[in-house]
Amino acid sequence: MRPVLAFDVYGTLIDTQGVTIELEHRLAEPHKAAEFARRWRDKQLEYSFRHGLMGAYVPFSECTREALTFIDRALQTGLSENDRDHLMAVYAELPAFDDVLPALDQLREAGIRCVAFSNGTADAVSTLLRRADIESHMDDVISVDEVKRFKPDPAVYGYLRARLETRPEQTWLISSNPFDVIGATYVGLRSAWVRRSSDAPFDPWGIEPDMTVTDLEALASRLINSG
Ligand code: 2OP
Repeated sequence: MRPVLAFDVYGTLIDTQGVTIELEHRLAEPHKAAEFARRWRDKQLEYSFRHGLMGAYVPFSECTREALTFIDRALQTGLSENDRDHLMAVYAELPAFDDVLPALDQLREAGIRCVAFSNGTADAVSTLLRRADIESHMDDVISVDEVKRFKPDPAVYGYLRARLETRPEQTWLISSNPFDVIGATYVGLRSAWVRRSSDAPFDPWGIEPDMTVTDLEALASRLINSG
């Protein structure tokens, strides 16, 4: 039974480092950019978890904007509305990691379906992937927005399988985000953790991915050679 691969987007396909660079240009204290970017991402995800748990779903971009405003207040960086608009625009246009295109081409030449699977809305993700020149290398874009829940809610992985018309054992979730890998593994999907930072820790929950790789070309090689 051929595997079908569902790729997380932010941090897995798309490099969000560009956000830090824009922050360096806009912050009065550029040395705060890396901390700002890390806390912004953490707060964005926290807001998706909270909105989801409350049953108060909003589009992921709203979580991103709310988190931006919060971190600006927390770090007292005094961003203007114009600054925030520009930073949100950067989030909508970020590059793919260098390994993404070669990996997708190898996988699809081997007859393996590859889709993007994200908290972002289908429109936002399609635009992001098109601007990153990888949309045409994807077989589909699947968004949690269809079920108004966020990762790692089991409902989103159930929806993914329904869209793909696949069985759990052939459905692979590919992500650099441990919360996503654990969420998918917990409901019986296969999973690969893309450990892009060599010092990135994994959560000590005892729920482990089927595979850990440092980049997507290594993933492609292992999946293609495993037959
Ligand atoms: C995603 O793209 C949030 O990185 C996560 O769904």
